Amino acid sequence: MQDFAGKVAVVTGAASGIGLGLARTFMRNGMAVAMLDRRGDKLGEALAQVRGLGQGRAIAIEADVSQHDSVHRAADQVEREFGKIHLVCNNAGVVVRGLPMAEIPDETWNWLLGVNLYGVIHGIQAFVPRIKAHGEGGHIVNTASMAGLQVGKRGTGSYAASKFAVVALSEALAHDLEGTGIGVSVLTPAAVNTEIYTSSAAHRDTTVGGRNDFAETPAEIAAGLHPDEVGVRVLDGIRAGQFFLITHPDTRAWLQDRHQRIMDGYDFAERWERENKS
Ligand SMILES: NC(=O)c1ccc[n+]([C@@H]2O[C@H](COP(=O)([O-])OP(=O)(O)OC[C@H]3O[C@@H](n4cnc5c(N)ncnc54)[C@H](O)[C@@H]3O)[C@@H](O)[C@H]2O)c1
Repeated sequence: MQDFAGKVAVVTGAASGIGLGLARTFMRNGMAVAMLDRRGDKLGEALAQVRGLGQGRAIAIEADVSQHDSVHRAADQVEREFGKIHLVCNNAGVVVRGLPMAEIPDETWNWLLGVNLYGVIHGIQAFVPRIKAHGEGGHIVNTASMAGLQVGKRGTGSYAASKFAVVALSEALAHDLEGTGIGVSVLTPAAVNTEIYTSSAAHRDTTVGGRNDFAETPAEIAAGLHPDEVGVRVLDGIRAGQFFLITHPDTRAWLQDRHQRIMDGYDFAERWERENKS
């Protein structure tokens, strides 16, 4: 996609944080924006904010991305209100931190994977066929994380597992859609100043039990990028045809370290073959 004005965008997790930053950016660029979120209580204010920014149209739809039917119903509603859909950002996400991998209960895994992984899967199932059907092309942006490219020692292993899966399915989707006029990108931010920790904890308390570990946003997140800057980087990245939408170039060393550890595995395997197979 090169031209955004007049096109229709759908953003999940749009009542807060990066999703709201994407919605604000799309409105400033003349798009019609459908804002989906589970939090009906926050959508009204978010919608008013977005509507105040431009000439385009915006609607808010209460939808739970972990539920197949909820996403499909929302997609029907967007088409009824706006017609053809062009840009879809599967962005809603939640985080779990501080639980060792062996101690994460199934209910927590189900909730985390339901939102972070099935949320993206449902978005792909609901929207890709609709974009294909109108033939004007479009773009899918799936929000992963730097945690989808490397695993830090931050106690967010389950989150990383969900985000690695988002990167993998985005790469596979890009292969599937080659030559269709529908592009795919995966958004991999490091810290962005959002409510992810406090809103995830609040949601977890009311739906699956568990402790509220995050009464406050951790300092490194509060010091992160403004969500609107993420929005601008996403649009510029799509225009430039980027698959990986890297928002924090200062994290390059994290990936170099991971790749070096993989290469170390190759070095060992080659040494082993020399010593054992000659
Ligand atoms: N903030 C960061 O530092 C950071 C870094 C990397 C990736 N991310 C990713 O960015 C995305 C957006 O998170 P954020 O940081 O803006 O957090 P946020 O909590 O501010 O916004 C997330 C939104 O998703 C919504 N949501 C949660 N579960 C939902 C569901 N089942 N259905 C529909 N909506 C649901 C929440 O209500 C909330 O409005 C997530 O996928 C997150 O993993 C965030």
